[in-house]
Amino acid sequence: MTKDNLEALIEGIPKAELHLHIEGSFEPELMFKISKRNNIKLEYNSINELKQAYKFNNLQEFLDIYYIGAQVLIHEQDFFDLTWAYLTKVHSQKVVHVEVFFDPQTHTERGVEFATVINGIYKALKKGEQELNISFRLIMSYLRHLSEEEAFKTLESSLPFKHWINGVGLDSSEKGNPPSKFVNVFKASANQGYKLVAHAGEEGPSEYIWEALDLLNVIRIDHGNRCLTDDKLVARLVKDSIALTLCPLSNLELKVIQKMEDHPVAKMLNQGILATINSDDPAYFGGYMNENYYETSKALKLSKDQIMKLAINSFKASWLNEEAKNKHISEVKSYFESI
Ligand code: HPA
Ligand code: ZN
Repeated sequence: MTKDNLEALIEGIPKAELHLHIEGSFEPELMFKISKRNNIKLEYNSINELKQAYKFNNLQEFLDIYYIGAQVLIHEQDFFDLTWAYLTKVHSQKVVHVEVFFDPQTHTERGVEFATVINGIYKALKKGEQELNISFRLIMSYLRHLSEEEAFKTLESSLPFKHWINGVGLDSSEKGNPPSKFVNVFKASANQGYKLVAHAGEEGPSEYIWEALDLLNVIRIDHGNRCLTDDKLVARLVKDSIALTLCPLSNLELKVIQKMEDHPVAKMLNQGILATINSDDPAYFGGYMNENYYETSKALKLSKDQIMKLAINSFKASWLNEEAKNKHISEVKSYFESI
């Protein structure tokens, strides 16, 4: 397929995004605009200077900059604008359903109220549902470099907004912060009715994926790249239909892989894993959903059937009800039949 044909094919596919940190969709232009509006000086003097800093050797180098960027978010309107910018962008890429992570602790640690953060994000998601026809779920993520006690405080703060929050996740610095550190707070979160997911096996070993499954009882793994080193783990993921939310451009930018040709998604599909493609932190890693689909398809020479499978998996692995899943999946199939 030519570049133009592959791009056009991908642009037309209805798809769901299941691994997106809203703070990671903060484009430098909007960041500067909001920093001026709030009178908060960024450490960088220009958009160009900031973009120059987006060169990472590992997850931690990225996180250090990601947390700096988030510091300009203060008011409900800021969180609304951030979320609305993401939604309008992915709407142009035929994303029809999103499951969005937010990191409350990144903001509450700076004195911003939990309510301010979630009100802004939720109002934009509702507007996106009404005006752009994008359905959504919201996932509150605990920062794993902080203590379990801190996560418990966050769980407590979330309770007045429980009806808006569908699940909890675990993100930030993986190495040295295993899922086992958060067993109690995940149990308490499940007792509140939250669904459970966790980042595991991005930089950390396959043991962290086992822990996320067996100790935290998650129903989906974010990233999970490292599972291929363990046949028993692969068998478990397949048997229990545990989806992986992979993020190829993120993996490349954070040196989880050295080149896109090394990305494990094709092998995972071949082994029957419910693999999906997502953008993680698109403002930092050079692409939203379509760029992730495109770069992966090109480098791994994915067939049309494999690309279709990825889109179907994105709905299968979502938290939509069965009726909505089936509707989207048949739309994906008709699209591929029509081309
Ligand atoms: N990994 C861990 N934490 C994160 C990421 C990620 O890819 N993105 C934002 N927070
Ligand atoms: Zn992530």
